[in-house]
Amino acid sequence: MKRVVVVGSANADLVVEVPRRPGGGETLIGSELRTLPGGKGANQAAAAARAGADTSFVGCVGKDGNGALLRGQLLAAGVDVTSLEEVDAATGTAIILLTPDGENSIVVSPGANSAFDRAAAERLAPVWRSAAVVVLSLEIPHETAFHVAASAAASGSRVLLNAAPAIAVRREVLQCCDPLVVNEHEAREVLGAAENDPDASDYARLARRLLLAGARSVVVTLGADGAIVAEGPAAAPELVSVPAYRVEAVDTTGAGDAFVGAAAAELARGCSLLDAVRFATAVSAVSVQRVGAQSSYASRAEVEAFISEHASV
Ligand code: RIB
Ligand code: NA
Repeated sequence: MKRVVVVGSANADLVVEVPRRPGGGETLIGSELRTLPGGKGANQAAAAARAGADTSFVGCVGKDGNGALLRGQLLAAGVDVTSLEEVDAATGTAIILLTPDGENSIVVSPGANSAFDRAAAERLAPVWRSAAVVVLSLEIPHETAFHVAASAAASGSRVLLNAAPAIAVRREVLQCCDPLVVNEHEAREVLGAAENDPDASDYARLARRLLLAGARSVVVTLGADGAIVAEGPAAAPELVSVPAYRVEAVDTTGAGDAFVGAAAAELARGCSLLDAVRFATAVSAVSVQRVGAQSSYASRAEVEAFISEHASV
């Protein structure tokens, strides 16, 4: 089977439910603390495996309990973890405040993820250079991610870059992306567009500008408004808007990662980008109805049942 390799971060998510976001200098009492498996890379790998792809995760955790938790949860999702390295640093941690509307605020302490330098990536190159699809996000050192993007694209892998957390991305990197996956905010940041840019909330135009900036294809995710897929020549691109499913969101943490992992799995199976995005939209819709990131990812069978249920209404 064609393999998906996710090169990225793994974090223990420390989740506390709060009635609202605290202000500066304010103390709030929250719910009981939950420690859940997270990190954009690990989440994407879990989602790709649950969607049925042969998936490997490449990254770093510490030699601690959270590292063991992450390894165990990836294994349980069906991910190959033989390239998950253990380093002398604390496993990455995300402090997550969850509000009743299902929204969150997240602060990441990268810990072991910072140790994933170019040398580590090169040591594990045989794993990602042979992948059909290489998935990257930006909770590991950016130069490592950009090096892997260039090298994987040069060796014929399809590179999916999820530019999250958002930063400006240079043309040589965008030219490797097929697709670049960004949310509304990341779309602006990747382009270096200001808040007062005339296109700031015209996502079809931003998608087109990302193609002009070099990306081979672009997916802009719009939460409850679905996604925009842009491909073809930048001068005359095909732009398709894919609607979202209407569901009640309990916890949107990791919904974007579910989308990315599922889309990568579909691309590895040989689906078109548009079909991959349609399936990924369903996977993320299921995930927002349950608590946590990886803990909310459904199996392919559950997602297919969800799609047929929603097709009939
Ligand atoms: O994208 C969601 C993820 O972001 C969480 O799991 C958290 O670990 C942060 O990395
Ligand atoms: Na969720």
